[in-house]
Amino acid sequence: MNGAPAARRTIVVGITGGIAAYKAVQVIRGFVKAGHDVHVVPTEGALRFVGLPTLEALSRNPVTTSVFEDVAEVRHVALGRRADLVVVAPATADSLARMAAGLAGDLLGTTLLATEAPVVVAPAMHPQMWEHPATRANLATLRSRGVHVVGPEVGALTGDDAGIGRMSEPEDILAAALAVLDRTTTASRPDGAAPSLQSGSTGTTGAVGSTGARGEQGDLAGVRVVVSAGGTREPFDPVRFVGNRSSGRQGVAIATAAAARGAEVTLVAANIDGGLLAGLDARIVAVGSALELADAVHAAATEADVIVMTAAVADYRPAQVLPEKLKKDTQGETMSLELVRNPDVLADLVANRRTGQIVVGFAAETEPDRDARIELGRAKIARKPADMLVVNRVGWSEGFEREENAIEVIVPGGDVVRRAEGTKADVAAVVLDLVATALV
Ligand code: CTP
Repeated sequence: MNGAPAARRTIVVGITGGIAAYKAVQVIRGFVKAGHDVHVVPTEGALRFVGLPTLEALSRNPVTTSVFEDVAEVRHVALGRRADLVVVAPATADSLARMAAGLAGDLLGTTLLATEAPVVVAPAMHPQMWEHPATRANLATLRSRGVHVVGPEVGALTGDDAGIGRMSEPEDILAAALAVLDRTTTASRPDGAAPSLQSGSTGTTGAVGSTGARGEQGDLAGVRVVVSAGGTREPFDPVRFVGNRSSGRQGVAIATAAAARGAEVTLVAANIDGGLLAGLDARIVAVGSALELADAVHAAATEADVIVMTAAVADYRPAQVLPEKLKKDTQGETMSLELVRNPDVLADLVANRRTGQIVVGFAAETEPDRDARIELGRAKIARKPADMLVVNRVGWSEGFEREENAIEVIVPGGDVVRRAEGTKADVAAVVLDLVATALV
């Protein structure tokens, strides 16, 4: 028998009808081992995959799926109201749709509607079902209500196929769920200490188009996010500079989506058109050159939980900045400009990050071949090991100044955990989903 934890909490584990239900057994065991009071609520479908006696024996509590048992106790409401945490693992596409719609046809549905506790879901399904716009919209709805999503991951699926959709491993679900519990416990401490955000493994989530309402409800509520965006301009006289074509659209899309999901956002904006910034719910720090951007980002980073470096930062700046306009009669037919290296802001952020701080890098590559581009990304994340590197293709007609973008997300070690294409808002949602997963 294990000793009770510092605070014994009531955890409801919902199990829905997917093959991964057998893995839920280890999740239950983990919570019981940690000393918590665990109540299992399987759907009828889940009981085809795992037996009721097993669930009762492991959870040490009676198990029922029916709202008509213990009616006098109003069990369908009582369980939800008593819960400190509700975990649904596995969460099938069907169960996510039911949750998003607020359906209450069984005990799990009523419990989810009655609870005010944080909810963690661990989706498991086939890649096609995961990628379907209906599932993506349901996930976006759930995230906007503050539901925490763990996984799914890329890997072997039932049958011969592989892809995104495999339920996260029980230990990862446990760690994420206990971190959520820990944060809610800390947040409600009488001393008002800020909840700690822990970085976990970077899972692979793929919902796009999350458009949560700002405030307490979003899955990034209270998270401090710094985004750098735009392109730096490196002056060599009062009217001229060396610059790049980055418009800042992708970074603005990330800042907009993060604010909509409840984050407190600081945007370090390098030469971004004012029209793009109109209506943005963020603190905006306007900068010009790479050195100015470096100062602004490092200052904001001291208070940040998440830093996303989308800015195209010039690697070099003119060695000399003239006080007056450069005259061509001092130059002749050709002219050369001596450049010196700028600091690498991302590398410095990674080297100095606080425990739990999440740093996301972007890599703009012109390489047209996908595999070769990924290799460039792998080399880049090996050089500056951010929590994830978003590789996007740029060129004369790709990437810059456009609404559409195509990305691959690489994590340290070189795994590609996500591919996505669509509008810059879609890409922003994918990146923030990964960030949200890493935060829980
Ligand atoms: N970056 C930075 N400071 C720099 C240059 C880049 O912080 N001086 C950041 C960018 O904001 C981006 C990431 O580093 O998040 C990748 O930038 P990129 O220029 O694509 O990569 P480099 O490492 O500079 O390599 P190369 O230019 O050789 O491709």
